[in-house]
Parts: sequence; structure tokens; C-alpha cells
Amino acid sequence: MGSIQAQRGTRDILPGEISYWQHVEATARHILQKAVFTEIRTPIFEQTDLFERGIGEATDVVGKEMYTFQDKGDRSITLRPEGTAGVVRAFIEHGLYAQGGVQRFWYLGPMFRYERPGTGRQRQFHQLGVELLGSGDVRADAEVIAIAVDILRGVGLDDLNLELNSLGTREDRVQYREQLVNYLTPYKADLDPDSQDRLTRNPLRILDSKAAKTQAILQAAPLLGNSLSDASKARFEKVQQLLTDLGIGYTINPKLVRGLDYYSHTAFEFQSVQFGTIGGGGRYDGLVSELGGPETLAIGWAIGLERLIGLLQQLQPRPADTTDFYIVSKGEVAEVQALKLAQTLRNAGFKTELDLSGSAFGKQFKRADRAGAAACFILGDTEAATQTVQLKWLATGEQQALSQAELLSQITTLHQQIAHRRETDH
Ligand code: HAM
Repeated sequence: MGSIQAQRGTRDILPGEISYWQHVEATARHILQKAVFTEIRTPIFEQTDLFERGIGEATDVVGKEMYTFQDKGDRSITLRPEGTAGVVRAFIEHGLYAQGGVQRFWYLGPMFRYERPGTGRQRQFHQLGVELLGSGDVRADAEVIAIAVDILRGVGLDDLNLELNSLGTREDRVQYREQLVNYLTPYKADLDPDSQDRLTRNPLRILDSKAAKTQAILQAAPLLGNSLSDASKARFEKVQQLLTDLGIGYTINPKLVRGLDYYSHTAFEFQSVQFGTIGGGGRYDGLVSELGGPETLAIGWAIGLERLIGLLQQLQPRPADTTDFYIVSKGEVAEVQALKLAQTLRNAGFKTELDLSGSAFGKQFKRADRAGAAACFILGDTEAATQTVQLKWLATGEQQALSQAELLSQITTLHQQIAHRRETDH
């Protein structure tokens, strides 16, 4: 029997890659904390209805891509394909709206969509997302977009293209939908099969088609922007003005419609050449009431972390792994002293790795180099007998003997030396 492998569309994130993830997560947490967004953690699976009602039955996500199953209690369960519906459910269920005002949440976790795996497309992937509930102010739109831009810049991606559109109100879209269907129906036979299917189910999504022939037909199609009411147009112009005021560049994409049904007014995506859409979001003013809560205006976005990190890996060297001290030891007594020394140094705040191999000193020193250690502590039979330890700085080869008992009194000096080495290394 062959060995078991990870499921198609899922992958392990191994030590060689994890430093990118931790870098992105730490940067995002820092920025979100300053903007007073609080983390929210909702379950990985929910009642299927939540997504059917929330995301929309006519969407690909609900129609084709959900991991849905009956559990042993015969309930229909779905692994969450995105984070917004769960956050809104929690917001309603726990009466968080009763606090009034604006509430700002962020989340990070795995999402599941049964898609054909490919570059930047998996069946289990991770999203970092924010949801701002309780404001329809245009400044909320600008704020959440600005935070996404800060995070993307903060991790080192400053040249993503921000595409912007307004989907207007439900009434605006009803009118437009009719115009679009009227325009496309005579061309039905020439559309790609997906778009033919969408013509009745979800015509606005046809605008998103990648098929060249469909795109050619769409060239002369009516634009959603022209169907917007004056109020919707004015609102969209204000959002654009605020982004300009914040120095955030964008391009208007009149065909941007997004793949989930809950959007109205502002919709946006961050695009890259290699991985397509890195993140996207928009306003979802009707979702909270749709799911049984009080009318609550809201906006948010989610960034796909596999895509973001895929880009970073192409652009930046892996953030270096470094260790302060590497402890090299050989001999029965020395090895026990080394174990204790490792704990002492860790408790004093140093990142310390203990070599457990018992192999020759030379081999242990090589591993110390590979670990990126600033210095080695060396314990052999001589040190064990005299209760001393050798401290060797790897960059210069400089070495000194310290008494084990006095080591703690040297901690402040060691901290200064480590800080100094790290500075001169960079
Ligand atoms: P979404 O556009 O469906 O929006 O997904 C956001 C991001 O998740 C995408 O831009 C992409 O980077 C990533 N993503 C989606 N599917 C996959 C996949 N199969 N493999 C890898 N990455 C993927 C939402 O999910 C909304 N909940 C965003 C939002 C929050 N809108 C308002 N609030």
C-alpha cells in the first residue's frame, strides 16, 4: 500500500515557508491593532443555510464549490468557504449590535472551496479578513481600503493594482440586470458555456468572464455605472475622492462585480500579474438584515494568504532564521550542564538551541553556523570539571572562558553583545 498523501488542493506549510507566514501575520496584527480592530474567531463549519442565504445560491461558491455533508445527526453542514457570513452570524447571535456604534473585527483562518486546484487556487486556503459593521459612512470604505493597503505595503507589496467599482443599490442592479440580459440575449449562442448558463442565473457575473469571445461581445455592453442612481454615483465619487486624499492610487474597473452576492455600492480587488486577485471586498449593507439581524451597514475585505505569500516568495528572500546561542557539548557531565545552561539562557530571554547529537565538536559547530547563531557555548570534559563554559562568537572567532556560576551576572553584558552583533550583521 502506498503512503498517504495530503488531499488534492491542500498543502502543508513546512518550516522552510513558515517564516513568511509569521512575518505576514505579525505585520497584519500590528497594523490592525493600531486601527482598533479586534480579532474574532468563528467556527470552521456552519449550518449550510447560512452560506446559501448569505452568499447567494446563484453564485459559483454556493452552487458548485461548497464542502457540504450531512453529519451523524442528519444536519446539513458546510465547511466555511469564506469568513463574512460567519462573522455576521456571530454578530447577530450574540447581539453584538446592541452595543451600537461601529464595530471592527478581523480574522485569519482556513476556508474551503471545491475548486480545480492550480496556481494560487486551493481547496483549503487561508484568508486574512476585516469586517467593519455599523457604518455606511464613505469614510468607512476609505478606512478599510487604507488598512488593506497598509498591510500589503507593510509586508512589502506596494505595486498591486487596486481596482474599484460601485455596484450601487439593489434597485440600481435590478435595472441594469435587465439591460444587460436584453443586450446579451441575441449573442447567447456565441457566449462561453458558463456565461450562457449565467444569463438566466446570475447575468452580472458574465462581466467577469475570461473567455475572449465573451469579452469581445461585452465591449459594447451597457455599463453598470450608467444605471446607478444619482445618489449612488455621488457616493462612489466621494469614496474616490477620499482615496485620492489618502494618496491611494486605484483604477476604476466598470466590469468588476465580485463573486459573492451580498455586495452593494463599493466593491474592490487587489490584482497582481502572477497570482490574479490577491484580495477583495466591498460593502454589504443588506447582509445583516438578510440573515435576521437589524439593518446594519457594513464593509470588509479578505486577502488570500497563499496568493500573498506566493508573491512574497518571488520578491523577497526568506526572512532569515537566527538564533542567539547554540550550545555545543560532549561528555556525560557536560551534556547535563549544557541542558541546564540552555534553560538558564532561555529564561534570561535568549533564543537558544541545544545540540542533542553527541557528535564530534566540529559537526556541532557546523550546525551552529547553519542555525545562524551569534555565538556558541561550548562544554566539554574540561569545562565540566572546572564548572566553566567557553563562549565563542562565530563572526569573529573570539572566545572567552566564563565561570558557570557567574554566567547570570553576565546576562546584561551578553544582551548588549547580542544586540551589537545583530546590528553589525545587518
Ligand atoms: P473572495 O473574493 O471570494 O471574497 O475571496 C477573497 C480572497 O480569497 C481572494 O481574493 C483570493 O485571494 C482568496 N481565495 C479565494 N478562493 C481561493 C482559493 N480557492 N484558493 C486560494 N485563495 C483563494 C471573500 O471571501 C469575501 N468574504 C471578502 C469580504 C469580506 N467581503 C466583505 N468582507
